[in-house]
Amino acid sequence: MKVLENFSLKKFNTFGIDVSAKYFLEAGSVSDIQSYLDDKRVGELPRLILGGGSNILFTKNFDGVVLKNNIRGIELLAQDQEHYYLKVGAGEVWHQFVMHCIQKNYAGVENLSLIPGSVGAAPIQNIGAYGVEQKEVFHELEAIDLKENKLVVFSKSDCQLGYRDSIFKREAKGKFIITSVTFKLFKTPKLNTSYGAIGQELEKMEAKEVSIAAISQAVCNIRRSKLPDPEKIGNAGSFFKNPVVSNEKYESLKKDFHGISAYKDNAGMKLAAGWLIEQCGWKGKQVGNTGVHKDQALVLVNYGNANGAEVFDLSGKILQSVKEKFGVELEREVVIV
Ligand code: EPU
Repeated sequence: MKVLENFSLKKFNTFGIDVSAKYFLEAGSVSDIQSYLDDKRVGELPRLILGGGSNILFTKNFDGVVLKNNIRGIELLAQDQEHYYLKVGAGEVWHQFVMHCIQKNYAGVENLSLIPGSVGAAPIQNIGAYGVEQKEVFHELEAIDLKENKLVVFSKSDCQLGYRDSIFKREAKGKFIITSVTFKLFKTPKLNTSYGAIGQELEKMEAKEVSIAAISQAVCNIRRSKLPDPEKIGNAGSFFKNPVVSNEKYESLKKDFHGISAYKDNAGMKLAAGWLIEQCGWKGKQVGNTGVHKDQALVLVNYGNANGAEVFDLSGKILQSVKEKFGVELEREVVIV
């Protein structure tokens, strides 16, 4: 594997922040990663595993090894009466995997169309959108245990998948490199159009029938209309999680703030953070080189030359004003490095 020194990461993070890695290498296979881990020169330096770089904010140069996971391949492992089991390399681009499924008529990921990032990152934050979470199609994954340098399997329950959460954000953080994910896709689609905007978009599209391809197209249209394209304007999608509050807290907020946007959640009510941020007057605001997207207040953007610290500072100001106005603590979803 070729090790590059003082390598710019600008093209490897969707925020487009110009920082560098002391060492950078791309791994195309499990054995690539294992031989890297065996190499004492680089194996003991601080390391960062990079997928699509779409959920990360670099605030400084990385003084260690950045390993870009480039393991490819989509393999139909098995099928039963109701399912297809697909083993997908962690370095595959998530949306390309979704497109593969639509083309083959494997159902279950259509609502997750156009989410930036790689397949290996999908279970880490259990990506979700438009009424569906990745955990609904997740079967198992393979990862390299960094301590032992050996391949291990995580079942669905091992991963402890929750809203924007998994064991890889907690106890297992930094201890494994995910190399492949096996998904369990459906032969008979369970079409999910419950998320309001999808129904409206399907009507607008005048789709003849609701199919997985039509849902995928509707989701792509909605995302393109609301979310900035990272190719044109740097961003990492939702910067914060939608906070969950108790039913009591929600009732008291509802009295004071009419039109508050919220959904029922297992633990109480999940508030739309975008709504809270908009109410604080941040939507569309530009602060130096950074700002809050004009069509979706949950998304912070880089207007070109922002550094990570500027974006981080802005996120701190937003956290503070939401806390002051609503007494609700937002949590950053993007990983800060
Ligand atoms: N809203 C506002 N103002 C805003 C943004 C949203 O009032 O600036 C309100 C909307 O009117 C709506 C509600 O908030 O009533 C929800 O908005 P939206 O459908 O855009 O979804 P979201 O809760 O803001 C979440 C995900 C998105 C995902 C969408 C669609 C999180 C943190 N974000 O956003 O994920 O695409 O739902 O399912 O859960 C991402 O993670 O990068 C991402 C884009």
